[in-house]
Amino acid sequence: MAQICICDDEEGILKYLKKLLRGHQVTTFSRGVELLAHLESPAGDRVDLLLQDLRMPDMDGIQILQRVKEKRPELPVIIMTAFATVDDAVRAIKLGAYDYLTKPCPNEKLLGMVENVLHLRRLAAENRRLREELAGGAPEPIVFASPRFREVYDLTLKVASSDANILVLGESGTGKELIASSLHHNSPRRDHPFVSLNCAALTDTLLESQLFGHLRGAFTGAVANQKGMLEESDGGTLFLDEIGDVSPAVQAKLLRVIQERDFIPVGSTRPKKVDVRFVAATNKDLQREVAEGRFREDLYYRLNVITINLPPLRDRPEDIEPLARHFLRRFAARTAKDIHTIAPDALDALQSYVWPGNVRELENVMERAVILTAGSAITADVIPLRGVQAAAPPLPVPARQQVMFALEEMERQHIEAVLKGNNFNKSRTAEILGISRRTLDRRIADFGLMGE
Ligand SMILES: Nc1ncnc2c1ncn2[C@@H]1O[C@H](COP(=O)(O)OP(=O)(O)OP(=O)(O)O)[C@@H](O)[C@H]1O
Ligand SMILES: [Mg+2]
Repeated sequence: MAQICICDDEEGILKYLKKLLRGHQVTTFSRGVELLAHLESPAGDRVDLLLQDLRMPDMDGIQILQRVKEKRPELPVIIMTAFATVDDAVRAIKLGAYDYLTKPCPNEKLLGMVENVLHLRRLAAENRRLREELAGGAPEPIVFASPRFREVYDLTLKVASSDANILVLGESGTGKELIASSLHHNSPRRDHPFVSLNCAALTDTLLESQLFGHLRGAFTGAVANQKGMLEESDGGTLFLDEIGDVSPAVQAKLLRVIQERDFIPVGSTRPKKVDVRFVAATNKDLQREVAEGRFREDLYYRLNVITINLPPLRDRPEDIEPLARHFLRRFAARTAKDIHTIAPDALDALQSYVWPGNVRELENVMERAVILTAGSAITADVIPLRGVQAAAPPLPVPARQQVMFALEEMERQHIEAVLKGNNFNKSRTAEILGISRRTLDRRIADFGLMGE
């Protein structure tokens, strides 16, 4: 069953067509502005086909078609009119209409055309899915509305096509990996692999063998030759996540790869050539790591040709609503639930919260909300942010020390509330907060939570 919109100023025609197309979910509009508003709303994303009258009282049909094609270039439109002129038909088709019908038109002709369009549309969707599967998945959409993030996004697009190494900085959950993959997908390297390596999760030996690969017998357990990620990402982009956690020994080896564009697999003596663009990310203050001697300065400058700084979510509150709607759509689709609105009190709760775990936390909150929602709207009672006062009264331009205290206190209260809300289940709490179990354990110890 497809979703079809019909826009015509004649009530009789709308009724007639609705009945004719009763196998589908049909929504009718008698004014152009209403149709456009519907297509621009979240429900508009699900529309599969539009039947549109060319003569509308409130707006010129050609103008409506233009607007529809701007918003939804891939949405098929069948134009209907009682006073067909060849000129109109040609203009409509040029503007991207699928076809043209003269009213009155025989039922079989209309039905045939509708089924044809829907069939083509399903084929196109299937094709796209297969292509994306082959290409290792479509790039994730990047959602934002704030001017702060618009700057970041513009910079990302601008520098994507160069081969410069890029350092992405930002708190946990702000979208560093997403930006790294967007750099890749907007670069000439897009048809080659994007490989992501979390440098913090591995011991030195493992990290080296993951990066450079190893030869059989290079160490106990190396039973076969193994390609490293450098080689896997040849021609593409290698994303070095948590670069601030790499040991001095591995830092030296990375520097060599970046300078010489070659590397030596573990257990080998022969260097191999690679052509890789590096994007690195960290939530550490890398400059301070350099100043305090924990990170090589030369490597820092090699990686940091351009810096992209991701602002925390609390500094771009305009992004909260569009992101929440984006995650709602995603999780509703994934769980096949028909949820499409966020109630005003729920939106208030989302907007007045500080989001220490940034976008990842918002994503987790929305996923949980969708799971807990039975009706068609997300309401405040499934948003577990109550009592976790985001809206601490604004502080009167305080001394640095006081600000630090205030945020820390907020973090403590928040972690405690989420822990309690989840019966002290630490894995679940870490997941909701968008931090690792290790970080959570450390914070619990720091704050003396759980009575430990
Ligand atoms: N602007 C955005 N639009 C859509 N999704 C976003 C956006 N920013 C972040 N996300 C989503 O939020 C989640 C966290 O983002 P990501 O993993 O890129 O953050 P990160 O900065 O790498 O976090 P960490 O430091 O914890 O690794 C991901 O699922 C990502 O897709
Ligand atoms: Mg990350």
